Amino acid sequence: MKRIGMLTSGGDCQALNAAMRGVVKTFINSGEEVEIFGFLAGYKGLIYSNFQMLTGKDFSGILTKGGTILGSSRTPFKTITEPDENGVDKIEAMKHTYHKLGLDCLVILGGNGTHKTANLLRTEGLNIVTLPKTIDNDLWGTDMTFGFQSAVDIATNVIDCIHTTADSHRRVFIVEVMGHKAGWLTLNAGMASGADIILIPEIPYDIKKVVKAIKKRQERGSGFTILAVAEGAISKEDAALSKKEYKKKLEKRTHPSVSYEIAEAIQAEIGMEVRVTVPGHMQRGGSPCPYDRVFASRLGSEAGKLVLKGEYGFMVGYKNREIVKVPLEDVAGKLKTVDPDATIVKEAKMLGICFGD
Ligand code: F6P
Repeated sequence: MKRIGMLTSGGDCQALNAAMRGVVKTFINSGEEVEIFGFLAGYKGLIYSNFQMLTGKDFSGILTKGGTILGSSRTPFKTITEPDENGVDKIEAMKHTYHKLGLDCLVILGGNGTHKTANLLRTEGLNIVTLPKTIDNDLWGTDMTFGFQSAVDIATNVIDCIHTTADSHRRVFIVEVMGHKAGWLTLNAGMASGADIILIPEIPYDIKKVVKAIKKRQERGSGFTILAVAEGAISKEDAALSKKEYKKKLEKRTHPSVSYEIAEAIQAEIGMEVRVTVPGHMQRGGSPCPYDRVFASRLGSEAGKLVLKGEYGFMVGYKNREIVKVPLEDVAGKLKTVDPDATIVKEAKMLGICFGD
């Protein structure tokens, strides 16, 4: 009999439940007896030994359910090696929980920060298998993460809705899309919804070029303009600053986010009404789209297979349309961002989309 711990850590996304269900169904259908310890609220559950014993029934009917049945929380990697407010050594506490319960393996679902901690636990001798979740799609070692396609659907729907009202009122609209420091979500939702201008962190923008693109549309008789702006979008001037200088500048920022800064600059130049829409955490919520249900189920079942075979130390990822296992040490600490020279960017430019560069 195997004893498996499972946890979901970091910002939630769609299809976390679908992925866990995939893992557990694979255990059940293998005929092997498996005990499942569900740690609550991410790594915190492992640190403070807060878990629930789960059975197949707990994973039934959750394929379409958003969020995570285990709950989640952020335990930033930079604080993982620091003791908590009561002096508890978090790494030692997690190892203690693992050994006390006699676990054979931990199945960990998470994004970048989660993978750094997972890899650290691996180096501390724990058996780990991970699954790539995040709407940001910025995890190295996999072409896609689950949650991403669902978030693309939501952000696309938002921009579709904005299109009709922008047209009626002849306004410039900015839709701010999540994605942290990566532009995957904005690029895909922007292209899917026919945005005129797409601004992503990987391609610093020149506000003059953005204004020029809007004016060009006006001259052509297009009464409105839609900008899909990544929450991490950055101007050329700001990109030229050192990390320290930029951080200082952000501390003094009076606008709620970069989109409002851009809106003000555009309004000052063209005198048209500019509106900002921020769908925010809506992009992480609700039911997973059909693609993510299938994708997360496949990844989950492959993770289940690895656990049953005792192959540990891997993330189950997706490369060139194949499910693959990627060593955790290769994944941890690396970010997958949009290559400004990627063909998708070139194609978007050929479609007339302005990136502000
Ligand atoms: O990583 C997912 C994500 O939604 C990012 O796109 C966003 O920057 C961040 O999480 C928001 O974090 P929080 O949920 O802590 O506000």
